[in-house]
Amino acid sequence: MSKFDLTNAGFGTRSIHAGQEPDKLHGALATPIYQTSTFCFETVEQGSAIFSGEIPGYAYSRGGNPTVNALEEKIAALECGEACIATSSGMGAVGGVVLGTLATGDHAICGKCVYGCTDVVFRQTLAKLGIEVTYVDTNDLKAVEAAIKENTKLIYFETLTNPNMELTDIAAISKIAHEHGAIVAVDNTFTPPPQVYPLKEGADLVLHSCTKYINGHGDVIAGAIVGRAELIGPIKKNVTSKICGTTPSPFNSYLILRGLQTMELRMARHCENGLAVAKYLESVPYVKKVYYPGLESHPQHEVAKRMMHGNYGGIMSFELKEEVNGMDGFTACKKVVNALKLASIAVSLGDPETLIQHPASMTHANMSPEARAEAGIKDDLIRLSVGLENVEDIIADFEQAFAVL
Ligand SMILES: Cc1ncc(COP(=O)(O)O)c(C=O)c1O
Repeated sequence: MSKFDLTNAGFGTRSIHAGQEPDKLHGALATPIYQTSTFCFETVEQGSAIFSGEIPGYAYSRGGNPTVNALEEKIAALECGEACIATSSGMGAVGGVVLGTLATGDHAICGKCVYGCTDVVFRQTLAKLGIEVTYVDTNDLKAVEAAIKENTKLIYFETLTNPNMELTDIAAISKIAHEHGAIVAVDNTFTPPPQVYPLKEGADLVLHSCTKYINGHGDVIAGAIVGRAELIGPIKKNVTSKICGTTPSPFNSYLILRGLQTMELRMARHCENGLAVAKYLESVPYVKKVYYPGLESHPQHEVAKRMMHGNYGGIMSFELKEEVNGMDGFTACKKVVNALKLASIAVSLGDPETLIQHPASMTHANMSPEARAEAGIKDDLIRLSVGLENVEDIIADFEQAFAVL
């Protein structure tokens, strides 16, 4: 650990120094990539003691690796949590949370709009395991409380829903859950610190697709779960490193450690660009609605002001009016998206590049049309992840694309 006490240090300082110390062997400043599957013991006795946990040390990289552990320490510090499990994908983190907190006969509550593959886990995988799930609008606190049963163990939702951009009041849900003995897990992929701190709001577990803002460079698939050590320890021991084996590679962990050092700067730019692009889109006469928590028109803008500390992020979704110059809104929208030159048509988000995609046929395509309708994911909705380019260029790209209509 850094010699500097990071407990009360700012986000930028923690993102650079947490989990990192000069390498003990040669003093390397950057965390070395321990690209090894196994570790050698001096003696049988030492190996046995490391395996039994009697003395600290590494044995096999699926269970622990210095580069991966440095990443876990850093992400835990950034989310203000005690412990972290890094996983090889965001879905690895989702799997770790549900398999680590639920068992046959339990009941879970899931936000009605979640990422498409997460929806499949809750609707299909958990049903096979005999775990009942109720889907609720987590903005409706009365509906959440009414859905709680004797055997409710978990309330799961996304801070900002993918792709509808609905914001949930984490503190209010956590209070209800804790009164009924359930735990709260929040997917914070869309709003990582320094935007939203779910653990400080009262959640028990926070998870991420680190593929997105945490790595921030579009070159890694990874995930993470953060929370109290008493919750994280068993998930790591029994689920992620054993049943699922979702430990990330040392190389990918190194890339994320590298990406995290500039997280504060990146997020500030994403937020600044995001707000400017959302305001621009709202001003375009062809646009019917922009869903972005930083806009006053967003239904939970007041909650966003409190929970997001003025940082509204770089993701938004929008739809065009029903009729645009003789075309239906969705046809017009496809024309605009196809005409973009700077933004790429691609799923994922939180990259330096501006990315745009159509949730109904891409990220949420593996949900049934009924599940999409229940989640409120409209067929003509477009999701945009505003990148780190100069904002005038992003807006100019949209201006030339709207000009094709
Ligand atoms: C909100 C959210 N959670 C989880 C995931 C899954 O992450 P990954 O693709 O890293 O497995 C995604 C992926 O897009 C996501 O958007």
